[in-house]
Amino acid sequence: MGTLDGKVAFVTGAARGQGRAHAARLAREGADILALDVCGPLPDVSYDHATPEDLKETARLVEAEGRRVLTAECDVRDFGTMREFVAGGVTELGRLDVVVANAGICTPLPWDEVTPAVFANTLDINVTGVWNTVMASAHHLAGAGGGSIILISSAAGLKVQPFMVHYTTSKFAVTGMAKAFAVELAKDHIRVNSVHPTAVNTPMGTGTIQDVLGRAIEANPRPGAMFTNILPVEAIESEDVADTVAFLASDASKFITAHALAVDAGSTQY
Ligand SMILES: NC(=O)c1ccc[n+]([C@@H]2O[C@H](COP(=O)([O-])OP(=O)(O)OC[C@H]3O[C@@H](n4cnc5c(N)ncnc54)[C@H](O)[C@@H]3O)[C@@H](O)[C@H]2O)c1
Repeated sequence: MGTLDGKVAFVTGAARGQGRAHAARLAREGADILALDVCGPLPDVSYDHATPEDLKETARLVEAEGRRVLTAECDVRDFGTMREFVAGGVTELGRLDVVVANAGICTPLPWDEVTPAVFANTLDINVTGVWNTVMASAHHLAGAGGGSIILISSAAGLKVQPFMVHYTTSKFAVTGMAKAFAVELAKDHIRVNSVHPTAVNTPMGTGTIQDVLGRAIEANPRPGAMFTNILPVEAIESEDVADTVAFLASDASKFITAHALAVDAGSTQY
C-alpha cells in the first residue's frame, strides 16, 4: 500500500531530471500522473534540451509502476494550454490531489553579463510558469477536498548563489509565492510548500554552466565558497529530492504548510 493510493499528481518539467524522478516516485506511492514538459529548446540555456522521447520514457516509468499517465508537450508559459491539459486530465483520471511545479531553467552569468532578455526569460519560466501551474490546478485540488502543492525552488531561494542574480531572484520569488498561496488556499485544505535542493546531478548542470561559473569564480573568487555543502558531497541525485517531494505530497506532512524545506546537504546554512 502506497502513501498516495487513489490520488492523482501533476508534475511539470517531467520529461527528465528531477521531474521524471518525482513522477516515477509519486507513481510508486500509488498516484496516477499528469506529466507536462516543453520537450524542446529553451531560451539562453547551454545544456541540451529535453525531447518528446524523454517524456515518453517518463510515461513508461510511471506505467511500469502500474499507474496511469497522461502527457502533454507544453510550455509552462502557455497558461491556456496548460489549464486545458489539467482540466482534461482531471476529467479522465477523476481528480487532482498533488501538484509539483518543477519546470525551470538556470543560465548562470556574472551580474554585468545578464541582459534584459536573459533576466525576463528566467522570470517568465521560473516565476510566472510556477504561478501559471498553481493557477491551472489549485481549484481542482479544492474540488477534491484539499491536497498538496509543492513548488521547486532551490538553495538559491534561501541563500544567494553567486553569478546568477536572475536565477536567485526567481527562486526567492518562488519561496515567497509558496507562502502566499499557502495562506489563501488553507481554507480549502490545500498545503503549499517550497523545496530547496542543493546542486543535483541532472542535465541542467551540463553545457557550459561549469565553465561559466569557473571563469566567474576566477575573476571574483570570494563568493565561490557560497556553493559549499556542509555534508561532504558535491551534488545529490534527483531521487533524493523525490523523497522530499513524496513526503510533502503525503499525509505524513499533513500539518506542514507555508514551509521552505531544504534538501541541500546543509548548503544554505554554510
Ligand atoms: N539541477 C540542479 O542543480 C538544481 C538545483 C536546485 C534546484 N533546481 C531546480 O529543479 C528544477 C528541475 O531542474 P532539473 O535539475 O531537473 O533540470 P533539467 O533541465 O534536467 O529538467 C528541467 C525540465 O523542465 C523542463 N522545462 C524547462 N522549462 C520549461 C518550460 N518553460 N515549460 C515546460 N517545461 C520546461 C525541461 O524541458 C526539462 O525537462 C528546476 O526548477 C531547477 O531550477 C535544480
